[in-house]
Amino acid sequence: MLAVIAARFDPDDPLAALDVAEQPEPEVPDGWVLVEMRAASLNHHDLWSLRGVGLRAEQLPMILGCDGAGVDPDGNEVILHAVIGDPDAGHGDETLDPRRSLLSERHPGTLAERVAVPRRNLVPKPPALSWEEAACLPTAWLTAYRMLFTRADLRPGDTVLVQGAGGGVATALIALARGAGLRVWATSRDEAKRAKAIELGAHAVFTTGERLPERVDAVMETVGRATWSHSLKSLRPGGAIVVAGATSGNNPPADLAQVFFLQREVIGSTMGTRDELVHLVSFCDAAGIRPLIDEVRPLADARAGMARLRDGDVFGKIVLTM
Ligand SMILES: NC(=O)c1ccc[n+]([C@@H]2O[C@H](COP(=O)([O-])OP(=O)(O)OC[C@H]3O[C@@H](n4cnc5c(N)ncnc54)[C@H](OP(=O)(O)O)[C@@H]3O)[C@@H](O)[C@H]2O)c1
Repeated sequence: MLAVIAARFDPDDPLAALDVAEQPEPEVPDGWVLVEMRAASLNHHDLWSLRGVGLRAEQLPMILGCDGAGVDPDGNEVILHAVIGDPDAGHGDETLDPRRSLLSERHPGTLAERVAVPRRNLVPKPPALSWEEAACLPTAWLTAYRMLFTRADLRPGDTVLVQGAGGGVATALIALARGAGLRVWATSRDEAKRAKAIELGAHAVFTTGERLPERVDAVMETVGRATWSHSLKSLRPGGAIVVAGATSGNNPPADLAQVFFLQREVIGSTMGTRDELVHLVSFCDAAGIRPLIDEVRPLADARAGMARLRDGDVFGKIVLTM
């Protein structure tokens, strides 16, 4: 079967580590099922894998991809939950299982014609969602859902700041927060992306680092170093930064006085549970919210899609179809 793989690692030039190649059919352990893929979406995670983050050389070649939707052996249309973990080992939450992994970290990923997943990782796809839309939900959109509705303590009418408006997680945050009745402010370095953020549902947009008219109740942070200081300063006393990524760098100055003196909280967030994915799918279905898709390409064109993700030249998700 055709698949997109990390054939090697290249920390500086991740695309040099990527191949689109024939791979053996997946093994299907007991309790797992084989899914015929229809669509999968790209994530920054795929670029980290190509750089060698989170994988060991002996795991190569590794099929990339966390997100996807397809057809199970009974003919059901399904969305794939990307977290492979045991809820019992994480106090009822598989994201807290110390041994949890994402598809493409320990087991082959979704950028392939077929993928094996545990049966519990299948979630029904509502007919109203297209294959392409469904394939956007399990990683970036699930991450955004948990950041807003599980990790932050927000209620309708609160103001939330979303940093780096163009990213997959950021566009999901804007659409979901608007749909849930929050006041949504977003930043971007790029004027065209700021205009698109307004179209997507942001009430107001700002250039990266710009002083805000007032402090916000919560900040959704996935940019990291480039926006961290602004995130801290933009937060009201007692407010929370929920952080799920650090695209521009992991180690900004911590600025601890900004944290303790105004009693701000810094909350980590990663992916989400199967139950949260079920609720996200239901929320999108009921509220008519749809993932913003920047571009759809065939699986064989993965390299071009990955190049756009590397260059930060996207607004929304890039989807591959099988
Ligand atoms: N924890 C989890 O479960 C989880 C799940 C999904 C993603 N993530 C992480 O979340 C992060 C976001 O991923 P993504 O795929 O949504 O988006 P992304 O492609 O990594 O980009 C996010 C945004 O960051 C901004 N940005 C990047 N470099 C910047 C810089 N030097 N200065 C200022 N802004 C910069 C850009 O915004 P503008 O161009 O609009 O300014 C860009 O749109 C990644 O690090 C990813 O690994 C984590």
